Amino acid sequence: MRQKITVVGAGNVGATTAQRLFEKSYADIVLVDIVEGLPQGKALDILESGPVVGSDANIIGTNTYEETSNSDIIVITSGIARKPGMSRDDLLLTNMKIVSDVVDKTVSKSPDSIVVIVTNPLDAMAQQALKVSGFPKQRVVGMAGVLDTARYRSFLAEELNVSVDVVQAYVLGGHGDTMVPTVGPTTVGGIPVADLIPTKRLEEIVQRTRDGGAEIVALLKTGSAYYAPSASIVEMIDSIVLDKKLILPCTAYLEGEYGLNGLYVGVPVKLGKSGIEHIYEFDLTDSELQSLHKSAESVKELLEIMAGN
Ligand code: APR
Repeated sequence: MRQKITVVGAGNVGATTAQRLFEKSYADIVLVDIVEGLPQGKALDILESGPVVGSDANIIGTNTYEETSNSDIIVITSGIARKPGMSRDDLLLTNMKIVSDVVDKTVSKSPDSIVVIVTNPLDAMAQQALKVSGFPKQRVVGMAGVLDTARYRSFLAEELNVSVDVVQAYVLGGHGDTMVPTVGPTTVGGIPVADLIPTKRLEEIVQRTRDGGAEIVALLKTGSAYYAPSASIVEMIDSIVLDKKLILPCTAYLEGEYGLNGLYVGVPVKLGKSGIEHIYEFDLTDSELQSLHKSAESVKELLEIMAGN
């Protein structure tokens, strides 16, 4: 039997994710949004692509949650997106209410599901989802590190004029301006990246990675990125649905790892059919570890604001 995946939010990220998942054929999809007709129209349009793209999966759109019952995976993209000049943190209180409401409605109908949070500010929203769902930490994971790492890998490959396939990298930390694109664990064809790119240039690439989301927002002017984000969500879902056990940088609830406790931050995790099956602790340089803690501090600041609201 096919898996069942619910995608909440039929906007840019949600609909593109639904399309990419539909083309995989391994799951039936329920697309949910509050706007009447939007998820129904997009789902029907995607369904009608089936004969051409070779997918016989099912996809439906809905404004209610009945149809989402017994989903294996719930992807939450509902909320507002950034406009130029806004940081992800500016979305906090609006998206906190939306995510709380949606998590409550979905998990009650799919108590055994794995929840993948995409709505920003990502780390804080994952924490909120863990709280509202009451799920074990293994079944609430956030998508950000795969995206940030994909941006970092793309920039490094462009710089060195090599295939992205040979660039191995990890961006850790919160999904914000303080994220930590690591240099130590980053290699190109097995060669440490620091041996290939001068420090000053590498710093510029690291900074461009940190600003990767803002660069797209400034160009689009009306919203934020969705092609690379949806591709990143689907890589995580592949690993869960197919039990591939990939090691991917994801937002996970830490209890002591990297000296951090009681909050969601991006770290390398093994993703499989049970969700987060292991958290890996890399040897980071002192400065990388410091940056990771600084990044965790900015996540904590958001948690404090949420606690007061
Ligand atoms: N229930 C269901 N859907 C909702 C709700 C809700 N309570 N509130 C908002 N939505 C829907 C909107 O109607 C809209 O269709 O969420 C969708 C969001 O789509 P976009 O505005 O296109 O935003 P998108 O670019 O998809 O980004 C969504 O993902 O990457 C993050 O920062 C981004 O937080 C943002 C989220």
